[in-house]
Amino acid sequence: MKKSILLLGLTALVFMSCGDDKKTTKKETETKVEVKEEVKAEAVKEEVAEATTGNVELGKKLFTEKTCATCHQADAKVIGPSIKDINKIYTEKSADIVKFLKGESEAIVDTDPGQVAIMKANLDGFVKNLSDDELAAISAYMKSVK
Ligand code: HEC
Repeated sequence: MKKSILLLGLTALVFMSCGDDKKTTKKETETKVEVKEEVKAEAVKEEVAEATTGNVELGKKLFTEKTCATCHQADAKVIGPSIKDINKIYTEKSADIVKFLKGESEAIVDTDPGQVAIMKANLDGFVKNLSDDELAAISAYMKSVK
């Protein structure tokens, strides 16, 4: 009987020390994970910096490929208002081009119903298939037109 109690005690001790071991290794892995995450955060920062400069290029490409350029020229009104006119009003009103393109805000540049309908057809047609990143790139490109 005494032996078995001793054995039990021993097992408990071994068990406890085992637990301790695990804790330290866990701590070590946690620190490793933290370090890894810091490295990752740095990489993300760099990626973001790259993305903001790269964005304009991508946006410019999309603006042509997605036919926006057919109706929007930098300086002159064609079918839609010029990019500069759009920028002017969006800056004045601190409005968000991406929001408009997502259909989350009303037209503020040309509010003539006929004109709004033309642009709305694009939003409902192909613009809704563009990703958030693509829309952000398009917006970045438009804002870069000075
Ligand atoms: C078929 C012609 C046409 C095409 C293609 C077109 N637009 Fe437009 N767009 C218009 C017209 C017309 C307006 C004026 C109505 C208005 O302001 O909503 C307009 C307005 C806008 C506005 C201003 C919205 C506001 O607040 O008044 C933005 C921003 C815009 N277009 C972006 C784009 C982008 C980005 C694309 C490509 C993905 C695009 N447009 C493609 C005709 C077009």
